[in-house]
Amino acid sequence: PGLRLYDPGFQNTAVAQSRITFIDGDAGILQYRGYDIEDLAEKSNFIEVSYLLIYGELPNKAQYSQFHHEIMHHTFVHLQLAELMKSFNYDAHPMGMFISGMSAMSTFHPEANPALVNNDMYVEDPRVRNKQIFRLLGKSPTLAAYAYRHRIGRPYNQPRNDLSYTANFLYMMDRLSEDEYEPHPVLVKALDILFILHADHELNCSTAAMRHIGSSHVDPYSAVAGASAALYGPLHGGANEAVLRMLEGIGSVANVIPFLEQVKNREKKLMGFGHRVYKNYDPRARIIRRVAYEVFEVCGREPLIEVAIALEKAALADDFFVQRKLYPNVDFYSGLIYKAMGFPTDFFPVLFAIPRVAGWLAHWKEACEDPKGKIWRPRQIYLGEGKRSYVPLDHRS
Ligand code: CMC
Repeated sequence: PGLRLYDPGFQNTAVAQSRITFIDGDAGILQYRGYDIEDLAEKSNFIEVSYLLIYGELPNKAQYSQFHHEIMHHTFVHLQLAELMKSFNYDAHPMGMFISGMSAMSTFHPEANPALVNNDMYVEDPRVRNKQIFRLLGKSPTLAAYAYRHRIGRPYNQPRNDLSYTANFLYMMDRLSEDEYEPHPVLVKALDILFILHADHELNCSTAAMRHIGSSHVDPYSAVAGASAALYGPLHGGANEAVLRMLEGIGSVANVIPFLEQVKNREKKLMGFGHRVYKNYDPRARIIRRVAYEVFEVCGREPLIEVAIALEKAALADDFFVQRKLYPNVDFYSGLIYKAMGFPTDFFPVLFAIPRVAGWLAHWKEACEDPKGKIWRPRQIYLGEGKRSYVPLDHRS
C-alpha cells in the first residue's frame, strides 16, 4: 500500500495474466496458444486461428464448420449502418470510417449494452459473449469494404457466405459486376496468411486498450472502436501506411544511405523497424517477405521492394541499428504486398485491424472469464503544484 512504481509506457509492468500468445523477443519466437506462428501460417487458415485464439484449442471438424458458419452468417450489417458509412467525405481516412462504424455498431445491438440489460452480462453468459464474437468477426470485413467502396464511389457488394472469410472480403472490395470478379486464389491465400500473422500479439497498444476499455464492462463494439483507434497511430498499426510513404519518399536505392544518415541524426524515423518486445528479427516479417514474392508473381513486382531490401540490408549492417537491436517488424514488408494487390495506401491500417479483431476478442473473452478481473485504473505520480488559493481574474497580473 502506498508504493507506486513509475513505469512509463508499461515497459516492465504486467497488467494481465494470459494464456493466448507467447513472445520471446530475444529469440524472435511467436506462438499462439503454443503453436509456432510459422506452422500456423503454413498449415492453418484465419478462421481456424481465430477459433484457436478465442477458445484455446484448434477446433475439430464439427466445431470448425459451426464457427465458420456462424461468422459467415453474421457478415451483413444493418441497412442504417451501411447508410451511415455513406455519410463520410469522399477523402475520409478509411480507418476513421472503420472506427466510427464500429462505434455505431454498438447502437445497433442494444442487448450487447450492459448498462441497458445487466451489468455483468458478459462475465456471466458465454452465449451473449459468443454472439458478439460472431458479429464482430463477421461484420468487420463488411464495414471495411463499405468504407473502401464508398470512397471510390462504387455501390456496396453484399457479402457472400459461400466463400471463405478472406475470399469474401476481397469479393466485397473488388467485384465490378455479377460474374466478373472471382478473387485470385493466390491472393486469397496471401491475405489469409497476413491475417493469421496480424491476428494477435499479446499486450500491444491496441490490445491493452481493448482490455482497458473492456474492463469497464462496456459493450465490445465500443471497446473494439477504442482498440481500433489505438491501432490507427503510426507507431502501431498505422506504421504499414507510414512505411509505404517512407519508401515512396526515398524513391530509389541510391537514396537509402542518405536517408539512414537522417535517421541516425534523428531527423527521421525508420518506419517498420524496431519493436518494444522483439530485439531480434520479427518472425512475422520473415514470412511476409516470402509472401510478397508470391503476390508479385500474380500482380507484378512492386519496384519499391528493391528500396526496402536495400534499406534493411544497410540498416542491419549499421552500428546505430545493431546496438539498439532494431530489426524489421511486421509492418516493414506488408505494405508492399498491399500496394501490389491494389489497396490504397491509407487502407493499410484497416487491413491490420480486421484480423486483429480476433485477438482483441480473445483477450476480451479471457478478461471476462478471469475471476480476478478488475476495472483497470492505473495510478500516477503527481508532479503538479501544492495547494494554492484562487485569485479572481481582476487581481491577476
Ligand atoms: N527508427 C530509428 N530509431 C529507432 C526506431 C526507428 N524505427 N525505433 C527505435 N529507435 C531508437 C530510439 O530512438 C531509441 O534510441 P535512443 O535509446 O538512442 O534514444 C531506441 O531505438 C529505443 O527505442 P524506443 O523508442 O525507446 O523503443 P520503444 O520500445 O519505446 O518503441 C516502437 C517501439 C515500435 C514504437 C519504435 O521502435 C518505433 O517507433 N518504430 C517505428 C514505428 C513502427 O514501425 N511501429 C510498428 C511496430 S510493430 C507492429 C505494431 O505494433 O503495430
